[in-house]
Amino acid sequence: MADHSQQLATFGANDDFWLFGYGSLIWKPPPHFDVRVEGFIEGYVRRFWQASEDHRGTPEAPGRVVTLIDRAHWETLTDHHEPTERVWGAAYHIPREKVAEVREYLDIREINGYSIQFTPFIPSSDPTTPIQTLVYIGLPSNPQFLGPQDPDALAAHILKSRGPSGENREYLFQLEEALRGLGEGSGDAHITDLVARCRAIEARGVVKGVEEKGVGEGLHTVGSTDEQEEVEK
Ligand code: BEZ
Repeated sequence: MADHSQQLATFGANDDFWLFGYGSLIWKPPPHFDVRVEGFIEGYVRRFWQASEDHRGTPEAPGRVVTLIDRAHWETLTDHHEPTERVWGAAYHIPREKVAEVREYLDIREINGYSIQFTPFIPSSDPTTPIQTLVYIGLPSNPQFLGPQDPDALAAHILKSRGPSGENREYLFQLEEALRGLGEGSGDAHITDLVARCRAIEARGVVKGVEEKGVGEGLHTVGSTDEQEEVEK
C-alpha cells in the first residue's frame, strides 16, 4: 500500500498536482484546472456511505454522498453490492500558481470528514502512463462514515435529503449520468442499482410510508410542492 503520510509530508503548497474526482468533481470540476483526463483507479470501492451535513444534507438531517473504501478493508465488511473492479472518474491538473487557491476551495467545499491520499490513476487515453493523483477519501475512522447501508433504505434516504448544494437525488442521478459518459464499462453497479431503486420508489408515486430501516422520520414525495417551497426559502 502507498505511504500516504510520506507523500503528504513532501507535498508542498506550491507543487502542481493532479486531483482525482470520483463524485461531484466529475461533473463539477475544480476551478483553475488546465487539463482534464478521464480514467480510473483501482484498489478502492465507491460507496454512498458518507453522511453529508454541508452539501446534500444538513447537520439535523444529513444526506448521503460517496466515499472510497480501501478494497482490503471492504473485503472485511458485509455489503449488499458486488464491487466494481475500477473506480472511474476524472483527474484534473492544477498548475503550480493556482495550488493554494484550489486547495483552499477544496478544503472548504469538500473536506467535511475527508482525508487526503495519493493513488495512481490510469488515463483511458493512455493506460500505459499512470498519473499520481491526490484524492479525498472519507476514511472509516471519520465521524461521517456510516458503513454498509441497506440499499432500499439508502435510496429512500437519498430521495428525501437536500442541503445547501441541492437535492441529494440530483447528486446521485448526476453521478450515474457522468459515469456513463466516461467510457466503455465506466459504470458502477452500486450507483446504477441505487438509481434503479430511487426510480422504483418514485414510480410508486409516494415516498411517504416506505418502510425505512433506521434512517429517520417519514419521507416526502420528491418534487412535491412543500419541498420546492422549502428550497426557495
Ligand atoms: C469528488 O470526487 O467529487 C470528491 C469526493 C470527496 C471529496 C472530495 C471530492
